[in-house]
Amino acid sequence: MTPAYQLQCIDCHATYDPAEIIYTCPSCGGLLEVVYDLPSIEIDFHRSGECRSVWKYRALLPVDIEPVTIQEGGTPLYRLRRLFREIDANSRSREIFVKHEGLNPTGSFKDRGMTVGVSKAIELGMRTVACASTGNTSASLATYAARAGIPAVVLLPGGKVALGKVAQALIHGAKVLNIRGNFDEALKLVRQVCDEYGFYLLNSINPFRLEGQKTIAFEIADELGWEVPDRVILPVGNAGNISAIYKGFKELKSCGITDSIPKMTGIQAEGARPVVDAIDRGLEAIEPERKPETIATAIRIGDPVNAAKALRAIRESGGLAISVTDEEIIDAQRDLASLEGIGVEPASAASVAGMRRLIAEGLIDADERIVCVTTGHILKDPTEVVDVCAKPTWVDADIEAVKKAVFG
Ligand code: F0G
Repeated sequence: MTPAYQLQCIDCHATYDPAEIIYTCPSCGGLLEVVYDLPSIEIDFHRSGECRSVWKYRALLPVDIEPVTIQEGGTPLYRLRRLFREIDANSRSREIFVKHEGLNPTGSFKDRGMTVGVSKAIELGMRTVACASTGNTSASLATYAARAGIPAVVLLPGGKVALGKVAQALIHGAKVLNIRGNFDEALKLVRQVCDEYGFYLLNSINPFRLEGQKTIAFEIADELGWEVPDRVILPVGNAGNISAIYKGFKELKSCGITDSIPKMTGIQAEGARPVVDAIDRGLEAIEPERKPETIATAIRIGDPVNAAKALRAIRESGGLAISVTDEEIIDAQRDLASLEGIGVEPASAASVAGMRRLIAEGLIDADERIVCVTTGHILKDPTEVVDVCAKPTWVDADIEAVKKAVFG
């Protein structure tokens, strides 16, 4: 059964009919979120034996039709073993997990948002969907639009999107525009296009999309036997995911299913850290970074649209925000891959790089149970991987040459 819900402004608290096509508050311009009458909803997903997936948690999702789905969610929660010993030889009590969102159908957590967002587009009778993207959102949107049989238009920061992501958007049939500009500029443009042509905007400013992403929180708690970790660490770009996961944990607590909320900890790249700066300086709002730069192109964002939600998530939960260098990101990516068998793209490795830094600096307690969210698959950005790894050794097709190459 679908729950009763409304759209509500996070600033002035005005409420709106969820069938209205609005992305920000018409009255004050604030961000919107989906709110439920939680006490009236019968929730049984913590008792059900159903396999974990986004739609297992349908009792708290705002979709009234059969969803457009290709089986998203149900991603693994791995306990770190070798990398953990290296990071934290002193602490035996600590548990560190990785929630590998790269194992969603298109290789990133965006699929959780898109199964809900594209379903909503169909429910609302929208004919075309659109987004700006550093890559993963466009790959996911193109895929779900193909599944739904509607056109997708995607605006990319030309030349700054990883190869695998562009390939996905193209093969799934989106209209792909390479903008001569960065992501923040592409997002402004796509918002104008959506307003003018009635396309449905599926960036994370769309509150329905974030509803799908909050199921990351549900799955983490579900897998831990409806317990909540002490801390969740994740990369922050446009700042939607940290806001969505925080909302998910808050809803579980409000429903009486869990009894605490993890400290939401956001990691940004050194060259694109407006949220970290705002936290460090105690600012009410972020100051946009005009020329964001990082190897982690997925989070190469200077003016995150969901910053207001993310700042609240971090502050209210008692979390942290720090930045890491590109070198730290590459080291974490390599170590996750070679010590744990977990292949992630650079932005995702930022979560583990951040955790490593926080532990080294003694900023988090020795006995914390931590979940790092790795947001995208390693195959998204093969160019970066090849650039940072040793090259293969060429050998003649000859057994002696092979032996020599193998044994030195
Ligand atoms: N990790 C990956 C792999 C991403 O693709 C993104 C965002 C993030 C982290 C940050 O998530 O924006 O919710 O804070 N990618 C967007 C895109 C911007 O267009 O694919 P966020």
